[in-house]
Amino acid sequence: MPMQINDARMMMSAVPSGVAPDEWNALAIRFGEVHTAVEADRKNGRYGFTELDAQAAEFKRVADFAKGAVGQFYDVVVLGIGGSSLGAIALRSALGAVEGAPRLHVVDNIDPATFAALLARVSLDRTLWCVVSKSGGTVETLAQYAIVRDRLAFAGLAPSKHLAIVTDPTSGPLRAIAVRDSIPAFAVPANVGGRFSVLTPVGTLPAALAGHDVAALLAGAKTMLAQCATPSLSDNPAGQFATLLWRAHQRAGQGTHVFMPYSDALRDIAPWFVQLWAESLGKVDADGLPQGPTPLAARGATDQHSLLQLLMEGPADKVVAFVRVAARDIDLTVPATGDMPEAAAFMRGRTLGELIDAEATATASALGRAGRPSLTITLERADAHNAGELLMMLMLATVYAGALYRVNPLDQPGVQLGKKLAKEALTSRTP
Ligand code: PA5
Repeated sequence: MPMQINDARMMMSAVPSGVAPDEWNALAIRFGEVHTAVEADRKNGRYGFTELDAQAAEFKRVADFAKGAVGQFYDVVVLGIGGSSLGAIALRSALGAVEGAPRLHVVDNIDPATFAALLARVSLDRTLWCVVSKSGGTVETLAQYAIVRDRLAFAGLAPSKHLAIVTDPTSGPLRAIAVRDSIPAFAVPANVGGRFSVLTPVGTLPAALAGHDVAALLAGAKTMLAQCATPSLSDNPAGQFATLLWRAHQRAGQGTHVFMPYSDALRDIAPWFVQLWAESLGKVDADGLPQGPTPLAARGATDQHSLLQLLMEGPADKVVAFVRVAARDIDLTVPATGDMPEAAAFMRGRTLGELIDAEATATASALGRAGRPSLTITLERADAHNAGELLMMLMLATVYAGALYRVNPLDQPGVQLGKKLAKEALTSRTP
C-alpha cells in the first residue's frame, strides 16, 4: 500500500477555515508552477538529496564497512548536531534494534554531564565513534571529537580503528583529518545540506553499523520520488502536504504545524521534521519579509494528555498532521477475563493497537468538530521501506514549501550570528 494522505479535514466541508471547492483549483495551478520550477532546479543538481543513484558506490562502501565492523564493537557512538544527528536518531527508532548488533548512541549535545556519563559507560577499546559533520567545522562536534581523540591516544588505541568520519567529499577540517590520519571517511554529497542528509552516510552509516540493511529504506525513498514526479496536486503527496499547510498558514493564520505520529517507531521523525521545516522555511523572503511556519513535535497517544487541550481550545492557529500505520507486526491483547476495572471494561479482549488507532481517529474527529483542521498520513506499517517514503516525502514537501513561501529552503543565514557570538565569547577568554 503506498502512503496515503487524507486531507478531508483540511477542506471547508469539514472545517470552516478549510479549502473551498473553487480554491482547490487555484492551489492546484500554483502547485503545478512550483513543481515545474523545482523539477528544473532538480535537474540542475540543486536538490542532491533526491539523487540516490549517484550515491550507489558510497552506499556500498558503507555496507562493506559495516560488514567489516561486525563483532568488533559493543557500542557505536554518533557525534553530531542538528542535521548531522537528528536523522540517525529518527532511523534508530524507525528501524529498531538488531539482536547482537552494537548499541547505537547519538550524542547530539555538548552538555558535559551527558557526554561524561557516556564516556564512563562505554568500553573505549570496543567502541566506534562516528564523527558526523557536513561542513566538518561545527564547533560542538569538533569539541566532542577532540575529547574522544585524546582518550584514544591516552589508551593507546589507533584512531583509524576507532573513528569513522562522515563529512563533505573534499573540503573541511574533518576531511583533512581523515586524509591525514587514514581514518575511514564517508561522503555527504556536496549538494546535500545537513537537514536533508538522512539518506546519505549521515543516516545510513549509523543504521548499517547497528545491523540494518538500508536497501529497503532507500527503495522506499525512491518509491516516493516516483510518486512525486507528477505536477498533479491530488496525486503528489509531498505537494499535497506542502500546499495545504502553506495555504492554512497564509489564508487561515494556521502557521503552527504539529507533526504527531501514533507510532513509537516513527516518533523521532517528529523532531527531525521540526528541524527540517523550521530551519528551511523560517527566513526572510524575496521581499525582505519574515516568513515561516512554526513546527511542533507531538506523539500520540501520549500527547493527548498534554498538548491536546491546547490544540482543541487554544488559539486556532494550528494544523495537526497525524501519522498512522495501517498494520502492526506486534500487538498485545487486554485479557478478556482478568482484572480490568469497570471504567475500562470495553477494552476487554481488545488490543493496544486497536486502542491507539481508535484514539488517533477520535482525536482527529474531535478536532474537526471543534473546527480545527488536520490531515492524516497513513503508512502501510512502521518499517524501513515506509520510513524511507515518509522521509523523502517530507524533504520534497520542504522544497515545495520553500517555493511557496518564496524562501531558499537550503540555507540558514540566521544560524550564523549565534555561532559567531559563541566563538567571540570563548576566544575573548583564556582557558
Ligand atoms: O541543517 C543544517 O544545515 C544544520 O542543522 C546542520 O546540520 C548543523 O548546523 C550541523 O552542521 P554540520 O553538519 O556542518 O556539522
